[in-house]
Amino acid sequence: MGRSGKVTDMSQTSWKEDYPVSRSAEHRSVRRQFLQFLCLSGLVVGFVSFFRNFFLRQKQIFPTKDILALNQIQSGYYLFRYPTENDPAILVKLSDGTLRAYSQRCTHLLCPVHFKPEDDSLFCPCHNGSFNAKDGSVQYGPPPKPLPQYEVQIRDERIWVMGKLKSNS
Ligand code: FES
Repeated sequence: MGRSGKVTDMSQTSWKEDYPVSRSAEHRSVRRQFLQFLCLSGLVVGFVSFFRNFFLRQKQIFPTKDILALNQIQSGYYLFRYPTENDPAILVKLSDGTLRAYSQRCTHLLCPVHFKPEDDSLFCPCHNGSFNAKDGSVQYGPPPKPLPQYEVQIRDERIWVMGKLKSNS
């Protein structure tokens, strides 16, 4: 190899003498750093995803929605979708003529609730839960919290839903 081969050998020898680390120890170290990098990346991705979802939920936008003409709800209830097309909701006309709107998803395990006009309640047949249709509060059964209630307004003889009522979240 001549002169250049000798120089290489000498430099490797001197390097190994200064840093006496075996090949396997070197590989273990690189593997450990790589695993630490993977763990840290996973944690960062997890935190970012959690906070993004948390803040998006906090800033949930509720659109103003025209539901139906006032004279079309004579008695009983009307089913619609709110705030998105994937969210079942129910508009009820109470015995005193008052209108209320709620999410139709039971707060226990999300079964749809049904209006019972005889006692102004919203009944969940899945596990016999019941909500007061005047304010969405739980009357009995396993539901852990009230039904989300939406603000209802009458404008130009039409029924509009405006957003979630804060007192009932
Ligand atoms: S899902 Fe409504 S009571 Fe269980």
